[in-house]
Amino acid sequence: MLRLLTRSDSRLLQSVFDACADYALLQDGQPFAPDVAQLEFDEVPAGFPAEAKRIFAIEPAHGLPVGIIEGLCGYPKPNIWFIGLMLIVPQYRRSGLGALALNKLEAHILSVDSCSEIELAVLKVNTAGLRFWEKRGFALRREAPAAAFGQKTHERWVLGKRIGDAGLTCPAAPASPR
Ligand SMILES: CC(C)(COP(=O)(O)OP(=O)(O)OC[C@H]1O[C@@H](n2cnc3c(N)ncnc32)[C@H](O)[C@@H]1OP(=O)(O)O)[C@@H](O)C(=O)NCCC(=O)NCCS
Repeated sequence: MLRLLTRSDSRLLQSVFDACADYALLQDGQPFAPDVAQLEFDEVPAGFPAEAKRIFAIEPAHGLPVGIIEGLCGYPKPNIWFIGLMLIVPQYRRSGLGALALNKLEAHILSVDSCSEIELAVLKVNTAGLRFWEKRGFALRREAPAAAFGQKTHERWVLGKRIGDAGLTCPAAPASPR
């Protein structure tokens, strides 16, 4: 159900972004760019290795992706996997798919990427998203600095969840925290 994507999957990835126009409006105040999927593969913080980026398609056994989860292994600390964005296309929401995909992601993060915690930033205006994460055991850790998204500026909460034993670090991440 989770498949790691490569640049050759950019068109499939773009189809998920395009189907989530409602979220683009909430976040950016405008549609996602027509090349947002291609750009996504290079979107890493300055100085962070591109190989620590993960983009997963959420897809049925046979068929096109119905969602994505992307994030960074080892950011902002070596034991943390930071979810950058999770999207389920509107007609598949509220049916348990997001929760199922998150369970699969957590298993991957623990067993393959060897991180012990997950963090993410949720827009304060995304109250439904905030409820989703809280129901999945994420708790408020700090407030992120306000940031510009398309035509909007957002305040965000950083949420976090511990998922495994201490001491695990992502092999792709730099040795010391930035
Ligand atoms: C947030 C999102 C990824 C959740 O995926 P989903 O498949 O809709 O979630 P699920 O169906 O697995 O719901 C899981 C739980 O969250 C609750 N939930 C989900 N969306 C909700 C909403 N809009 N309002 C209230 N509760 C909600 C469900 O009731 C369910 O509760 P339960 O575990 O008690 O049954 C999806 O709705 C989405 O893509 N939203 C738009 C983009 C977005 O906000 N992404 C998050 C950015 S931080």
